[in-house]
Amino acid sequence: MILKFDNRFFGEALKESSKALEEDCLKNLQLLIRKECLGKEYTGWMNWPKQKGFETLKRVKNHINLLGQPYDTVVVIGIGGSYLGTKAIHDALSHRYQEALALSGTDLSTKPIVYAGHNLSETELIELFDYLDHRNPIVNVISKSGTTTEPGVGFRVIKNYMEARYGKELASRRIIATTDPKKGALRGLAEQNGYHSFDVPSDVGGRFSVLTAVGMVPLVLAGHNVDALLKGADRFFNSLYTGVQEGTLERLEAFDAIRYAAARLAAWNSGFRVEIMAFGEPKLAGLVEWWKQLFGESEGKDGKGIFPAGLNCTTDLHSLGQYVQDGVRNILETFLAVEETRCTGTHRIERSLRVPSGNPIDELDYLEGEYISTINKAALRATEAAHHEGGVPCLNLKLDTISEDSIGYLLAFMQTACAVSALTLGVNPFDQPGVEAYKINLFGMMGRPGFEHARDKMAGLK
Ligand code: PA5
Repeated sequence: MILKFDNRFFGEALKESSKALEEDCLKNLQLLIRKECLGKEYTGWMNWPKQKGFETLKRVKNHINLLGQPYDTVVVIGIGGSYLGTKAIHDALSHRYQEALALSGTDLSTKPIVYAGHNLSETELIELFDYLDHRNPIVNVISKSGTTTEPGVGFRVIKNYMEARYGKELASRRIIATTDPKKGALRGLAEQNGYHSFDVPSDVGGRFSVLTAVGMVPLVLAGHNVDALLKGADRFFNSLYTGVQEGTLERLEAFDAIRYAAARLAAWNSGFRVEIMAFGEPKLAGLVEWWKQLFGESEGKDGKGIFPAGLNCTTDLHSLGQYVQDGVRNILETFLAVEETRCTGTHRIERSLRVPSGNPIDELDYLEGEYISTINKAALRATEAAHHEGGVPCLNLKLDTISEDSIGYLLAFMQTACAVSALTLGVNPFDQPGVEAYKINLFGMMGRPGFEHARDKMAGLK
């Protein structure tokens, strides 16, 4: 099994109410599969690998093989769903000190990916150029709408940098655009400047787009095994669709996505308002960021939705652990655990580390000879039991290992669980009307034509 769901620390009452909610979740799953649900026009990510994924990947690989431009660094320009998935996968599967090691000439199995257009920090852009001056970058600008301010501004500056460095003609061959098949400013810019482009499918929204060209292009450029990623996702959808068609879903591994959705809803109905995703392997921090966007933007509307937060164990146990143990009891916690944490380090050579002998004065002799990963796994379980005792209902999702395959499975699992959970909560999982509010104020403050009403409202607040 790639991913195992375990609710042993969830509490008897919540386990019972979760069970009772599985039927509603299954009904919404059927609607999702039949494309009859709320927001049905954005369900193209369901069964994506078989529908269009493998075929899209062939085109992406083809283009990258024929690129003819040497590069050693990938610059991803995008925000929200246009970059979080790529970062999640890349961080989980790459060396933590990749950029520095690459600068020192160490041969790594993947190339560094650096990001822009995910904030409006001038300092970050300037510092990025300091890094790029020592690298040979290729750029992938990603925006489904093609009109988002942050990547728009980031792209203007990086386009200038690339043109100044390589000349207009060569720069245009080193820029790939991923955007809406037909509309938006980025589509127009790609056509005008002759950038090669890939589509964000019109029936897939940003936060559900990681397995489309949005994630594929930068991940293939960086050297990841995207076939395995898609195969992992395909394994989930296979189990899901087979189970639904044959009426055997409850016996298949994909049913855990329904169990997870039902458990969250049971917690919501009982007054729990925050879900913490706790993880013991720091490489999973990016995946938790991706998960936060997925659930936060999909469910948080109409005054409803559990607020998603992250907890990096054991680091955060020494900062936030006290609150989780003893603070307001409106928190549920999901532990994202990993069975086998193999370190592949540089060159993908497996390595491990045990606690060495030392001075008994530190009272750590009882740990001598233990793998650090064994202690880390024990710490995560110990935390789960402690938080449960402190009144936090806990769920556990255990990945067999951190690999392209298992991450692909997890992404498909989470997307499905999220859509089912939001639909059962009674909200449209695929829109994000609330994101517009700050944009309108910003447009007013910065003098965008047509936003004079917002300018007047914001006057004096600069
Ligand atoms: O999930 C979503 O749709 C959003 O979070 C978008 O991904 C984000 O706002 C970026 O939008 P765009 O890709 O249009 O620039």
